Amino acid sequence: MRTQVAIIGAGPSGLLLSQILHRQGIDSVILEQRSLEYVLGRIRAGVLEQGAVKMLDEAGVGARMHREGLIHDGTELCFDGSRHRIDFKALTGETVMVYGQTEVTRDLVDARLAEGGVIVYEAEDVALHDFDGAKPHVTYRKDGVTHRLDCDFIAGCDGYHGASRKAAPQDVLKTFERVYPFGWLGILSETPPVSHELIYANHERGFALCSMRSNVLSRYYVQCPLDDKVDAWSDDRFWDELRRRVDTETAEALITGPSIEKSIAPLRSFVAEPMKFGRMFLVGDAAHIVPPTGAKGLNLAASDVYYLARAMIDFYDNGSEMLIERYSEDALRRIWKAERFSWWMTNLLHTFPDSSAFDRKMQIAELDYVTSSKVGAAALAENYVGLPY
Ligand code: APR
Ligand code: PHB
Repeated sequence: MRTQVAIIGAGPSGLLLSQILHRQGIDSVILEQRSLEYVLGRIRAGVLEQGAVKMLDEAGVGARMHREGLIHDGTELCFDGSRHRIDFKALTGETVMVYGQTEVTRDLVDARLAEGGVIVYEAEDVALHDFDGAKPHVTYRKDGVTHRLDCDFIAGCDGYHGASRKAAPQDVLKTFERVYPFGWLGILSETPPVSHELIYANHERGFALCSMRSNVLSRYYVQCPLDDKVDAWSDDRFWDELRRRVDTETAEALITGPSIEKSIAPLRSFVAEPMKFGRMFLVGDAAHIVPPTGAKGLNLAASDVYYLARAMIDFYDNGSEMLIERYSEDALRRIWKAERFSWWMTNLLHTFPDSSAFDRKMQIAELDYVTSSKVGAAALAENYVGLPY
């Protein structure tokens, strides 16, 4: 089999890249290790920057998002027993869109399949070959048969645990990492959200977040020790802990119900450099991880796709390799700023096991500054709604 771009991974990065290339007449094949059901079963953050919204519109998959997504003009920070609003719209002129990653993925899969896209699910042993030359190829096994896919480029969209980053020459690849000493215990419940905007709460007992998927589906998180087991957290224990970490008004307004999903996720900052190795590119989680505190994961996947699709379109339309050569540099510039913001939000809002009374005072002073100074608030708002591409 032959295609122009071989894409490894059918998560949001791979699907969005394939769809945008298709709309510009560039052919791709996606190889995905898991089944479609598995991919659609993953629950992740759900806040889209305007840049990501625009990319989904350009990919022709924005209709349901505009119908069902919730537009948020701001968010609230809660500390010392009270809530303080950051007004994104007033401070930056922009808003964010709350629409779950699962829905984004579903819309992209539907569009790819409706437009004749090829997605090979349950492709095993995907291996990348010869990407240091002009004729790369990928091999994989499907139903016990080995296949070969020849291509011009390979896009490694296969997430943090994928094969692409591992295939990069390890003497060239540099990685940068911070692992945080806590996790997030998250639950999904079929209850109306406690507030129409997100509430990020700093509390001595640990961080908490009140989020949502829709007007009838809520998503809540509490910071927990990394070695906690989900089974140790009954729904009642979760709701009690959440109430203790937010202001009284929010605690009293909280409508609780049985959880329909409950899981613990670790927090990590990670960047791999460079993101281009000859004719192979890393995209999305394959190249970088952010802690979820700023909801930047999916948004960074969208900006990577923007830079890579633009470069490939220029290559096929004009024969120019200039943007291809610049992909890594362009993408990483934006990635590092989003890494900084996510790291900063994480430090500002969480309780660290070794933090002193002085550290706590510093957190509260910074929260006070950010919520009472127009410039402080604007810096948070500008990063939260998303820096320009
Ligand atoms: N071969 C083929 N496919 C693979 C392989 C492999 N060896 N390894 C992983 N995959 C697939 C995974 O099964 C997954 O479907 O690659 C896909 C990667 O998808 P994601 O992990 O969702 O990564 P990405 O598409 O970059 O999306 C980034 O996901 O983790 C969130 O917060 C993050 O929202 C961000 C988004
Ligand atoms: C979520 O709704 O899952 C969510 C929202 C905002 C975040 C992280 C997660 O910062």
